[in-house]
Amino acid sequence: MNLKQLDPLSPRFYVLSVVLFLVLGSAFFTIARVAAAQAPTGALPTDAGLAAEVEAGLALFEERCSACHGPAGLGDGPMAPDLPNPPARLGDPAFLRTAVAGDLFQTISSGRIERGMPPFGAQSTDPLSADDRWRLVAALYSLAYTAETMAEGEQIYVASCQECHGDGDESETVPALNDPAYWLNSSDHTLFLSFTDDSWLPEHQGLGLNDEQRWAVAAYTRVNYGSPVALFQPLTAASVSGQLFNGTTGEPLTADKATGLTATLRAFTEDLDVRLTLTTTVASDGRYHFDLADASPAWFFRVQVNYGGLDFTSDFGQLSQMRPGLDLPVTVYDTTTDPAAIQFEQIHIVIEIFDNEVQVNELYVVSNLNDAVFTGQSGDYSQGTVHFGLPPEAMGLDVQRGFGSFESFFPTDEVTLTADGWAALIPVRPGRGSLTLLARYTLPYRSGMALNHRLYHDAAGVTLVMRDVGVRVATSDVWLDNGPQLIAGEPFVTYFRPSLAAGSTLELTFSGRSRMAMLLQDQAPALAVGAGVLLLAVALAAYVTNSWRREPDAIETEALEADADELLHAIAELDDAYEQGEIAEADYRREREELKAALRDRWADDD
Ligand code: HEC
Ligand code: HEC
Repeated sequence: MNLKQLDPLSPRFYVLSVVLFLVLGSAFFTIARVAAAQAPTGALPTDAGLAAEVEAGLALFEERCSACHGPAGLGDGPMAPDLPNPPARLGDPAFLRTAVAGDLFQTISSGRIERGMPPFGAQSTDPLSADDRWRLVAALYSLAYTAETMAEGEQIYVASCQECHGDGDESETVPALNDPAYWLNSSDHTLFLSFTDDSWLPEHQGLGLNDEQRWAVAAYTRVNYGSPVALFQPLTAASVSGQLFNGTTGEPLTADKATGLTATLRAFTEDLDVRLTLTTTVASDGRYHFDLADASPAWFFRVQVNYGGLDFTSDFGQLSQMRPGLDLPVTVYDTTTDPAAIQFEQIHIVIEIFDNEVQVNELYVVSNLNDAVFTGQSGDYSQGTVHFGLPPEAMGLDVQRGFGSFESFFPTDEVTLTADGWAALIPVRPGRGSLTLLARYTLPYRSGMALNHRLYHDAAGVTLVMRDVGVRVATSDVWLDNGPQLIAGEPFVTYFRPSLAAGSTLELTFSGRSRMAMLLQDQAPALAVGAGVLLLAVALAAYVTNSWRREPDAIETEALEADADELLHAIAELDDAYEQGEIAEADYRREREELKAALRDRWADDD
């Protein structure tokens, strides 16, 4: 059987997962204990504190990995014969020299369950912390490289490298040796090649080393300067500081505006738990500063400033041994009450016609083309910002807010009904596609219907997507009929019309009975549109819109792809709302879990 082809949804995949789960839960530990006694000690960093961390990693390896990978990581653990694939020979220098540390961490975290390698990160039934997974990566180098190699490497370092690299610190001519970006993204083979390939690094040529010495010094340098346990040691003296800018004026915040502002620093773990919350006042030059006595390089930091009643946040940043001082500028914006800044970048209407009811889904991608936050015409966003029309017969309006991808829509109650529609109660930040809302409602259908409602803001384009169920759509001639399309084997029809001005009415007339409804007559009205179908249709609509538009539009991809920062942002906002008692505990927990899952997917996709 070809396990590479194993479909994650197939029964075989499922069976294998269960088997692994059982194996890890029980038999595994007994076997591991037996193997524990004779674990070898290989390459350790010279620093005693770091050496202790690697030893902790080796102990974890015995406990959690050796049953499959073998006590020395040579792929010969007692469980190896029962696995669908031979476990990797992690402790073999031939394997490790070409391995990339960041990839090892990723595999340990996410596993390759279909190939017999379980995950030890968040998806595990008994997860290891990120710190422990880094200790394990360090332990693999200790298994593969020997203490003798370290001794030899040290001699070569002193003789051939020290004159330029000193104790590893940055200088005018050489970079610091403890740059995580270097060690996590390159293998020892890369460093080896820099000593042999003169087109690459002229300074590394002519050092008079043979191959064995090159491998030895590469191993020594990694274990001492590039070991994950060195890179991820807590920092005892770190700082986060930054300048506040006014994005509306493009200038740093001046004394009159900065005085009285507070900055809040939050640190998140990889699993998005808040580890630290600190507050400080912003100085009169518009700068803030936090000193940290104990901070982890694994944390994600973000600074939030409340300006003019609105929260603004910095990007996310991380500390490192190399960069113990993190600079996180925050851009705040003034507000505007001018609705002309608001544009519907895209409107996608997806409808499903049932026997006597129609489910309408309207997806709005909203842009704010001004350099100021739109807080509604009254200036008070809780009175409504962006306005939307609704047909008079619409029932059961439900609005969801999108966070960058079509998988991450969450119900929002930051909306209110108006005389002929609804309005968002959300301030709209400057930028294209800065707000995405999905409105769903039903309309009665009696052998036909009209979908008419007002547009309060300019729309760049509108798409209509519906299953081809024999219903005719009468549109004015501005609509382009794109004809039938097959989506996942099902026929759909799509229409598109370019720009509609604010104040105009969206008009669509439908007639004829739905073939689908006749088929489903005997069944209960199934109004819940399969989310998958909807999203597929919207994705198609976006595609269609794009192919019809003359100029390619960056917004399209921005709105389609979940952005990890956006999700982190959403989580932080959710945390704030919860802290301020704005949402119920149960809703908070559920939404946070969903956002975390979306974020994990995103991180997994990035690798
Ligand atoms: C249930 C058996 C099992 C356990 C327990 C296990 N592994 Fe694995 N591991 C495997 C198998 C099988 C493979 C090979 C997967 C493949 O061929 O793609 C593998 C592959 C790997 C790889 C990828 C190597 C490569 O080719 O890039 C790494 C890294 C790894 N394991 C580390 C670990 C660590 C660290 C632990 C303990 C925390 C561990 N494994 C526990 C079975 C296991
Ligand atoms: C003549 C000076 C010189 C000598 C000797 C030297 N290096 Fe370098 N090394 C450099 C310079 C310059 C760079 C930066 C090259 C670049 O990034 O363009 C560098 C880069 C590196 C890097 C990559 C660091 C990073 O973050 O990009 C490593 C690792 C390294 N050297 C290790 C060694 C080792 C090990 C030796 C001894 C075998 C050695 N170097 C000898 C000058 C030297």
